[in-house]
Amino acid sequence: MKSKSVFFCTECGNETPKWSGRCSACGAWNSIVEQVEKSVKSGKSSRIASPVKASNITDIDTAQEIRFPTGMGELDRVLGGGAVKGSLVLVGGAPGIGKSTLMLQICQHLGAFAKVLYVSGEESAHQLKLRAQRLGVDSGNLYVLSETCLGKILNCIEQEAPDVLIVDSIQTLYNEELDSPAGGVGQVKDCTMSLMQLAKGSEITVFVIGHVNKEGSIAGPKVLEHMVDCVLYFEGDQHMTYRILRAVKNRFGATNEIGVFEMMDRGLKEVENPSQMLLSGRPEDAPGTCVTCVMEGARPVLAEIQALIAPSSGSNPRRSCNGFDYQRAAMLLAVLEKRGALKLSQCDAYLNIIGGLTLDEPAADLAAVVAIASSYLDKPVPGQMAAMGEVGLSGEIRSISHLEQRLSEVQRLGFTQCMIPANCGKDLKVPSQLQLLPVRNVAQALQLLVKGAI
Ligand code: TYD
Ligand code: MG
Repeated sequence: MKSKSVFFCTECGNETPKWSGRCSACGAWNSIVEQVEKSVKSGKSSRIASPVKASNITDIDTAQEIRFPTGMGELDRVLGGGAVKGSLVLVGGAPGIGKSTLMLQICQHLGAFAKVLYVSGEESAHQLKLRAQRLGVDSGNLYVLSETCLGKILNCIEQEAPDVLIVDSIQTLYNEELDSPAGGVGQVKDCTMSLMQLAKGSEITVFVIGHVNKEGSIAGPKVLEHMVDCVLYFEGDQHMTYRILRAVKNRFGATNEIGVFEMMDRGLKEVENPSQMLLSGRPEDAPGTCVTCVMEGARPVLAEIQALIAPSSGSNPRRSCNGFDYQRAAMLLAVLEKRGALKLSQCDAYLNIIGGLTLDEPAADLAAVVAIASSYLDKPVPGQMAAMGEVGLSGEIRSISHLEQRLSEVQRLGFTQCMIPANCGKDLKVPSQLQLLPVRNVAQALQLLVKGAI
């Protein structure tokens, strides 16, 4: 047995035998930290004498996957239809975003049919009780433990034998057998591994909270992503009340669903109509804003794209994107310059998606183009118009998927006009109150905007 140093990247969790200034896996600078592994077996890897047997895939019984609802429809949706028994779910997010609140809230519903143990390394049992009272959580099946030592926690789990375990947060836990401090990459990985074994071995469903930190000294949930079954991120602007829960990994379902919540004075409330929420407070008749419809999983969601185009004072115009891909925006600006004859290279350009949503679908291109042109020309987009379509490099507007579903969502929210790709098929079923404005290319879209034909 001998001690060995290994190096981890705090951004992506990549393990390397040597320190370097830059992570070779994700390219982050100054993110590599050293971790002394307590002991490793020296010598050659040995074969274990007792034989193991592989199973034929046709003999494996899948009826064993048991799912149960968490009582929060939006959370169930992101998990792929409820939590899976014996799985480990990592819930990441910035401090103060509402992770503890969400987890404590689901305890009420879970307590109706399962024994829940809430382990908090951040708050005392008394504080937890006060928070639970405020959230209206009073289930007799909920047990709380304020502890950070992994060994003691595992003992308590053995004694209590809960069905669901919630750990708040993984960065506060430590295994006393390791020398490194709590929150370091080694500790966080080791504790997660123990919890993972617990989930698989004892069929306990485990929710682990992990803080996302900007500083490198504390290991974020990123380093754990590859180990766990499901990774959810809780996002949103802390100054706004809306929160978006997003799955970035799910071994039991799709990862493109989002759940939307609103932080109220009595905890998180589910938002069943995210389109309405994302469009609330939209300015009327202001230039530089356009509504589009994106697919978040199986659900069409309306989003507002805002653009501000202003003359640039320097030789290097500023470009800034919030919620929109930077490279994509640069491409759209270039297409507008070349195919729409707008002198955007002499302008600063800012693009913003309202409500903390991130648009990564090309279907949002057309609305971004319309918003940019609207700001440049200082011509408002009619308030009742939405736009969707992918923009190609020669300025053509290309067809998009799920058009009918998107159009019915647009109509449902009271829009009367929608700009769509011209080549989207003849037999499109269109809601009767909706006027379609088919466009072939960027120039046509701009013409409609300038002429005020819309
Ligand atoms: P919390 O769940 O403690 O965040 P996290 O565990 O992700 O660090 O949420 C903290 C924030 O939420 C805090 O700023 C106060 C706010 N909050 C409410 O607005 N209403 C509530 O009912 C609760 C419990 C918290
Ligand atoms: Mg918390």
